[in-house]
Amino acid sequence: MELRHLRYFVTVVEEQSLTKAAEKLFIAQPPLTRQIKKLEEELGIDLFVKGSRPLKATEAGLFFYQHAVQILTHTAQAASMAKKMKLVDNIVKVGYVSSLLYGRLPQVIYLFRQKNPDIHVELIECGTRDQVEALKLGKIDLGFGRLPISDPAIKRLLLRKEKLKLAIHKKHPLSEFQDSGIYLSQIINETIFSYPTTPKPNFSTTIQALFTKLGLIPAKLTEVREIHMALGLVASGEGICIIPESACDIGMKNLTYLNILDLEAYSPISLSMRNMDQSSYIPKILDCIEEIYSEEEVSRNLNL
Ligand code: BEZ
Repeated sequence: MELRHLRYFVTVVEEQSLTKAAEKLFIAQPPLTRQIKKLEEELGIDLFVKGSRPLKATEAGLFFYQHAVQILTHTAQAASMAKKMKLVDNIVKVGYVSSLLYGRLPQVIYLFRQKNPDIHVELIECGTRDQVEALKLGKIDLGFGRLPISDPAIKRLLLRKEKLKLAIHKKHPLSEFQDSGIYLSQIINETIFSYPTTPKPNFSTTIQALFTKLGLIPAKLTEVREIHMALGLVASGEGICIIPESACDIGMKNLTYLNILDLEAYSPISLSMRNMDQSSYIPKILDCIEEIYSEEEVSRNLNL
């Protein structure tokens, strides 16, 4: 039995006439009559009351009609959902925290675009905390962030732990630690700029939590709007600031960057997605990340 036979049968029941049904189905009446007969033989029941005018379905025919309608409706719905999924699968909305633009994010996205020209990527700036809600609402499909936020609906993959660096003016007295590196306990009396001022938790929270974890209380921790402001103030000689290693590439004049010797001084970079998401772009983006990491020999520091 094929779906088209069900469609023929449903139309005959609804039109109560083989002639009208044949017209509606754009087929000749004799093949339609033959198909209905074949269906009756296959099922071993009379679907229509013989000789009835208008044509009336038997009790068994009506029962079969209701189920045939359901099968046709479900098939149409499944086909339309599958078509939509194909369309949706061709667009991937990627949420990201802005500091990752200094890291490997641009390379990963560029490579993904090269390898998957049929998938349209939309980049949407979005703090890690907001990414959870945006993922649930379908506003983004993937989220690259820096905070270990947990939610039962979201799966989070830790990609790597990026080292933190201390940005200072190149003539700052702390530049004597350029070669040796420095412990955070050695800077607690400095003016330290943290960022951003967006709703917490954010990168500023990570820095505060880091000091707390090490049992340190910085004397002057000042929050500014964003990383460029923090670095600009450092370059003006107003203080120092802690940044992810990749942000050293911003390359503001007269700055130098010290290694931080505390093992805890890192910022986790993670990829979040909806728990049940089986979309094909997920393994594809993970492949691109692996390729960039291995090409550039990026150390992931996952055991720190
Ligand atoms: C990274 O810097 O390691 C990174 C950032 C965003 C996406 C993937 C990797």
